[in-house]
Order: sequence, then C-alpha cells, then structure tokens
Amino acid sequence: MSKEIFSIAIDGPAGAGKSTIAKLLAKRLGVIYVDTGAMYRAMALYMLRKGVDLSDAAAVSATCVSADITIAFEEGVQQVILNGENVSGLIRTEEVSAAASKTSVNPDVRAKLVELQKKLAGEKSLVMDGRDIGTVVLPKAEVKIYLSASSAVRAKRRYDELIAKGEECDLAAIEAEIIERDERDMKREISPLKQAEDAILVDSSDMSIEEVEEKLLSIVKEKGLG
Ligand code: DC
Repeated sequence: MSKEIFSIAIDGPAGAGKSTIAKLLAKRLGVIYVDTGAMYRAMALYMLRKGVDLSDAAAVSATCVSADITIAFEEGVQQVILNGENVSGLIRTEEVSAAASKTSVNPDVRAKLVELQKKLAGEKSLVMDGRDIGTVVLPKAEVKIYLSASSAVRAKRRYDELIAKGEECDLAAIEAEIIERDERDMKREISPLKQAEDAILVDSSDMSIEEVEEKLLSIVKEKGLG
C-alpha cells in the first residue's frame, strides 16, 4: 500500500551523483525533486553580491535575514528564486560553489533554509538531496540513502565533465579540491555531512547511473512506496 505523502532523503558528498540520481528517481516515482544545495548556492550568491566577508559569521547572519529564497518548478525543473529573481543559471560557478561551502556552516543560514525544506516536504511527496536531509531536515523520511563514491572516482567524473565542455583542468587538483570540500562539509559543527543511522549506504564508485537508479528504485519498492 502506498502512503499519501512520502519523502526520500539522499545525502552524500559532492560529486557522488546525488542530483542526477535524485532527479531520475523523482521522475520514475512521479514526485518532485528538491535540490537543497541550490538553496545554499543562492544564499552564497546573495552574500557575494553584497560583498560580505564570508569568514565574518556575524555579517553572514545579519545578511541572510534579507535573502528571500524560494523555489518554483518550470516543466518539472526546480528553479531557485532569490528576492524575486530566478538565479538558477547563476549558481553553478566554482566561485558560488566555494562560497556555498563556507556560508553553509552558518547556523542562521541553515535554520532559514531547513525551515523552507521542511515546509516543502510537509506539502508534497518528494526526493530531496543534500548533506543533512536524513539526519536533520527529514529525520522521519520513509527512505534514506547515503550515496558515496571514492574521491578518485568523483574527481575523474568531474574531470571528464570539464574536458567534455572543452575546459582545461588538472585531475590531481580536482581531487585535492574534492577532499578539501569533504573535510569542510564533514567536520563543520552544525549538521555535518554524515550517514544517518537508518540510512542505506550505496557506494556508486563501480556502478553506472542506471545501476544506481535501479538499486534505489528497488530500495524504495521494498519500503512499499512508488
Ligand atoms: O550539493 P551542492 O554542491 O550544490 O551544495 C553546495 C554547498 O552547500 C556544499 O558545500 C554543501 C552545502 N550544502 C549543505 O550544507 N547542506 C545541504 N543540505 C546541501 C548543501
């Protein structure tokens, strides 16, 4: 028997394939996909635009109050709206990515975005991905997945993506950056990236996207959802 509203939480480090898989899974299940990283990125963009010193916690806390972040869907694709402006096309840069990793350590930033995420999950069935979804945002999610992959595999995936786009890059430097990002996400004081006790670990290092998708679908079906 399917439940009326359900939540699927997918957490894991950057580059493990969370968003690709979460999107596919949401489509297969006919529910919305919520990318919480995009919200932290929109907040980081706001801080960058305001010229806030990201290491100044009081300034970040004070500034986040005036950032109104919401999401909308266009043909099923999540759009992030920052104070009325659709910033979805502006948040995928390395600069915003690095800034998001720094501003997301701030408790006021987190409180604000977690509130929005909980609200969304209370309204509709969804697949939500991030770092703290199974542990903090949706501790009662019907399904929790922790999707990981080795740093070497994640670096190679990123390297291949950049090369395909015609960008010059260095594999060792990408892996070093991934390791540094993991450290920051896992060691921060509030809501560090960690596997929830009741989350199912899926290591995608040696799996194709299709294999991961099938694995997650079978987990969801076992729980009687979808
Ligand atoms: O998944 P992403 O790369 O778009 O996330 C951007 C940053 O936001 C990343 O450094 C970790 C942070 N983040 C977070 O702290 N909590 C979440 N639920 C999602 C992302």
